[in-house]
Amino acid sequence: MRVTMIGAGYVGLVSGACFADFGHVVTCVDKDPSKIAKLKDGRMPIYEPGLEQLVATNVREGRLFFTEDAAESIQDSDAVFIGVGTPSRRGDGHADLSYVYAAAEEIADLMDGYTVVVTKSTVPVGTGDEVEARMRKRRPNADFAVVSNPEFLREGAAISDFKRPDRVVVGTEDERARNVMRELYRPLYLNETPIQFTSRRTSELIKYAANAFLAVKITYINEMADLCEAVGADVQQVARGMGLDNRIGGKFLHAGPGYGGSCFPKDTLALVRTAQEARSPIRLVETTVEVNDRRKRDMSRKIINAMGGDVQGKTIAVLGLTFKPNTDDMRDAPALDIIPALIEAGAHVRAFDPEGMHEARKMLQPGVEYAEGPYQCVSGADAIAIVTEWDQFRALDLDRMKAAVKTPLIVDLRNIYNPAEMKAKGFRYISIGRGEA
Ligand code: UDX
Ligand code: UDX
Repeated sequence: MRVTMIGAGYVGLVSGACFADFGHVVTCVDKDPSKIAKLKDGRMPIYEPGLEQLVATNVREGRLFFTEDAAESIQDSDAVFIGVGTPSRRGDGHADLSYVYAAAEEIADLMDGYTVVVTKSTVPVGTGDEVEARMRKRRPNADFAVVSNPEFLREGAAISDFKRPDRVVVGTEDERARNVMRELYRPLYLNETPIQFTSRRTSELIKYAANAFLAVKITYINEMADLCEAVGADVQQVARGMGLDNRIGGKFLHAGPGYGGSCFPKDTLALVRTAQEARSPIRLVETTVEVNDRRKRDMSRKIINAMGGDVQGKTIAVLGLTFKPNTDDMRDAPALDIIPALIEAGAHVRAFDPEGMHEARKMLQPGVEYAEGPYQCVSGADAIAIVTEWDQFRALDLDRMKAAVKTPLIVDLRNIYNPAEMKAKGFRYISIGRGEA
């Protein structure tokens, strides 16, 4: 089939390239000229493992195209996806849908023949109705259907999440549209991936309900970690003991500095607003948002306390800046709360991240020093803080680290080391929800 994907970000670019890999002909459209220029040049605007190869293959085989001008491709597309950003609106936490509506109106003006318009972006319940109404107003006699098809992609694993999803959710009650969606996802259909057909509103809510639940689960283990520290228990063992119950499952039970990223923070907030407006508040998610925001701020306190309470003039080495490993995405990363608070307390911060420093420079205040690598980062440091669990931080040469630092103190916010091992190597090692060895 012929597909147009509007928005070539983390969601649109990955989804477009994967649809092309399924055999469809896909045109990715983006309003950002530099993004399109990079893609035409075979360079990726984002870091996502495997994406460069996937794009190159499909461009070479003539199934994947990039353009700033949506007109031509929308006219001869069977399906047009809206994959633009739906960031939190400044101030009130509602999803900013201006990009979604702009894309929908552009599609309405250009579509020709029966067209399935698909909201791939995460949008509040009822957005599909609003999109349909705005399009209908512009094109009263056009033949189209508006379908919800939320993405469940984790950054760093987005391609495998698209190609081997636990499920595909499709929200429409239009039979022709359902057939188009079946055809689009045929390769998954053939290998028995469950495709759940629901109403449009149900599909929109499934996305938020799932994401918010994952955020609640993470926050639950984070608070459990604080209790573990207070009563002398080990949160990793607690998580394992919980997770062996298959009604709970072991995933998303890693205690840390709080969740970040472009999804959980904005999706939990948008769901809270939707629920409040519907006069059916979800207090559990309201509390999750509040607890998580405070946790990210409290993490700098944990580091300062570990250093004796006064970091004036001290050097703190921060390993990891991105909100999670295997991405360059800094959106709502805990480091964006932790580093300014440490500098505020008088510390000098030197940071290293394998992929995130380019983005981080735009989002952190000047004065942060950026290192070439982990060992240079820790050289002469009064403390090391591990903020993102990149694989390369899991097997550092601890003797080399010990020789490089001024004070052998590690505050590990991701529990990637074993306390007894660290003690044996001569480090004072503080982590999350586990006592010092
Ligand atoms: C985001 C959210 O993370 C995700 O939860 C939601 O489902 C979709 O929006 P992401 O791909 O990360 O997904 O957004 P972003 O990286 O901001 O990419 C959006 C792209 O759309 C940008 O490249 C932007 O230039 C482009 N865009 C935005 C358009 O092409 N047209 C517009 O009108 C607005
Ligand atoms: C998430 C959802 O997983 C995905 O299904 C949805 O489509 C988009 O949002 P993403 O935000 O890319 O994906 O990353 P994810 O791996 O879910 O991690 C989100 C945050 O939770 C990160 O800050 C991560 O560090 C944190 N996290 C995750 C934990 O603190 N502990 C965990 O056990 C898992």
